[in-house]
Amino acid sequence: MIEFIEGPMWYAAAAVFVAGTLWRLAALLRGRRQVADAPRGSPALGALRGVLSYMLPRRPFRANRSVLVVFVAGYLFHLGLLGLVLFGPPHVAFIRDRILGVGWTPLPYWAFIVVAEVAVGALLLLWIRRATDPVTRTISRRDDHVAAGLTMAAMLTGCFALGEGMPALRALHMLSVEAWLVYFPFGSLFHAFTWALSRGHTGALFARRGIRA
Ligand code: HEM
Repeated sequence: MIEFIEGPMWYAAAAVFVAGTLWRLAALLRGRRQVADAPRGSPALGALRGVLSYMLPRRPFRANRSVLVVFVAGYLFHLGLLGLVLFGPPHVAFIRDRILGVGWTPLPYWAFIVVAEVAVGALLLLWIRRATDPVTRTISRRDDHVAAGLTMAAMLTGCFALGEGMPALRALHMLSVEAWLVYFPFGSLFHAFTWALSRGHTGALFARRGIRA
C-alpha cells in the first residue's frame, strides 16, 4: 500500500496537477479581450503598480488591528509555506531524487521546524478568522474551506512525520499532499498562479482609464 501511495499515486497526482494547471492557464490567456480605445496611461506601468501596491493594505485601513493581523499572518503563512516546501531538508531531497535530479542547500532542521510551526499557526489563525468574522464568513465559499482544510492536512501530517522514522506517517503525509495537488488547479488554491495576473490586470485597466491603482 505504501509503495502504491509513494509510486503510481504520486505520479498520477503530479500529472493531474501539471495538466490541470496548464489547461487553466491556457484558458485564462486565450480569454484576453482586445480594447479599441486609446489608453490614457501606460497599461504596463499600471500593471506593475497594481502588483506592487496591493502588497500592502490600502492606506485608510492600515490603522485597523484586524487588517494588520491578517496582513502579518498572511505573509507568515505564505512565505513560510513556500520556504518549507522549497527548503525543508526532506523536501529538498525529494525534489533532487524524484523530480529535478538537482538539489540545493536546505534549511537546518531546527529552522525547518520553526518555520513549519509558524506557518501552521498562521494558517490556523487565518482559517479561524475566515470562519468567525461576519464579513469573511459571508463571502467565503465551500471551496475556500476545502482549500484551507487540504493545506492544513498536508502541513499537519508533515508535522507528524518530522521524526522521519515511520513509513506509515510519511505515506499519510504523501497521501494528503497528493489530495492537495489534485485539488489545486480546480479551486481557490489556484490563486498561487493568478494573484499577480489579476492584480496586474486591475492595475492595467485602471491605467488605461487614467486612474492610479
Ligand atoms: C508544516 C508543513 C510540513 C512539514 C513539517 C513537512 C515535513 C515533512 C517530512 C518530515 C517529510 C519526510 C518524512 C519521512 O521521510 O519520514 C516530508 C516529506 C515530504 N513532504 Fe512534507 N512537510 C510539510 C508540508 C508539505 C507540503 C505543503 C508539501 C507539498 C507541497 C509537502 C511535500 C512532501 C513530499 C512530496 C514529501 C516526500 C514524501 C516521500 O518521500 O515519500 N510537504 N515532509
